[in-house]
Formats: sequence, structure tokens, C-alpha cells
Amino acid sequence: MPKLGVNIDHVATLRQARQGNLPDPVYAAFLCEEAGADSIVAHLREDRRHIQDGDIKQLRKNVKTRLNLEMSIVPEIVKIACKIKPYQVTLVPERRKELTTEGGLNVADNLRKISASLLKLRESGIRVSLFIDPDKKQIDSACKIGAKIIELHTGRYADAKGIGQKEESFSEMQWAVNYANLQGLIVNAGHGLDYANVRQIAALNGIEELNIGYSIICKALYVGLYKAVREMQRLIK
Ligand code: PXP
Repeated sequence: MPKLGVNIDHVATLRQARQGNLPDPVYAAFLCEEAGADSIVAHLREDRRHIQDGDIKQLRKNVKTRLNLEMSIVPEIVKIACKIKPYQVTLVPERRKELTTEGGLNVADNLRKISASLLKLRESGIRVSLFIDPDKKQIDSACKIGAKIIELHTGRYADAKGIGQKEESFSEMQWAVNYANLQGLIVNAGHGLDYANVRQIAALNGIEELNIGYSIICKALYVGLYKAVREMQRLIK
């Protein structure tokens, strides 16, 4: 059964709406852990639209499970990560105008740059995961630069419309998980997973952890964070 990493970015999105102190992502992380989350995920974006530098410092001090810091490979953020030393970082692409991380890293066309960041972070004792599309070229490229962990972008699966597209995107995920496992990679997955679509992905053999944010934070508005996390875990099981 995959573990559950809860992404708390959108707790900070709500706080930034008034630029105050509430709601507090660190307290939200505590509640997620109380409910049984296996790790806490937070994305320190270059534009600081939700999570702030201070949040990462506080999360590093207070998270009792594992802190998975999502980040781009820009030197400023790599430097921050090397200083704070979260348990893991997940390297993601970032575009200023995107609403969310719309696709995986293009490792194939950026081997040198991504490899340099991966090595730097690893030298600081941080585990590094690469967020990539469920695509052979990207999986092979991740292996080529010595990655040991990947996170497969489930956006195409989550956004699929109609039975044909749904089946096709699920098969793509199924194939990618198997192929990556055969290459010896630890495989995580996430993006766009929710209470309706998580079960099919959770049932795939070979996924270590699912990272889920938006749907859990939305449900938490109605039922509270504790129940929202518990319910997601129940579906994964
Ligand atoms: N995994 C990664 C690498 C992401 O960038 C995101 C979104 O920040 C997620 C998982 C969670 O996606 P969602 O918020 O759609 O559940």
C-alpha cells in the first residue's frame, strides 16, 4: 500500500490572501501527522506565492515524520535547501504564470543542469526525487543522471475525460511504474489526485508514496484536516 504525503501549500495560499499568520501551515502539518500522514510536502516557489522561507525553517524543526521540499533547480532555492537540509527534496519544473506544476521536469533535455543540482543536494545529505511525466525517455534520463527516486506526474490521468482517455492515461501510468521499478527506481506519484480517482492509482503495485494536496485541503474546509487525511488514507488502503 502506498504511503501518503500531504502537501500543505494551500494552507499557506489562504494565509497569503491576507498576509497574516492564519491559517498556520506548521499547525496544519501537525494535524496531518496526527491523522497519520506519512510525510509532509511543501513547495517553496521562486515567486513565494504560498509557502515562505520561514515556513520551511519551522517545518524542518517541527515535522516529526519526513519533510519533502518541492523546489525548482534555481541556485537560490538549491542554496536554501542545502542549508535547511529537509529529509528529501523533489525537483519540479516551475513556470511563473502556471497555476500549478503543469508537467514533469524535462530531464532528457536538461541532463547537465539537473544532474548538477541533484549532486549538490545529495552532497548535503538530502535524498533527491525527480518529478517527471510517465514517459520512457524521461525515466531513462533520470536513470542516466543517477536518480534513485522519481515522482510520476499523475496530471494527465487526473484530467482525463471520457473512458478512452482515462484508460489510456491509466495504462501509461501502469506501464511507467513497472518500467521504473524494473530500472531499480523508487517510485512516488502525485498531482491532481482526489477522493474519486485515487483508488485506481493506489492499487498499482510498486508505488512507494502518493503526494496529495489540493483535494485534501479543499475537503478539510468542510470536515476538518484530520478527517480529510483519514478519509484519503482509507481510500488508499
Ligand atoms: N507532487 C508534486 C511534485 C507537486 O508539484 C504537487 C503540486 O504542488 C503535488 C504532488 C500535489 O498535487 P495536488 O495539489 O494536485 O494534489
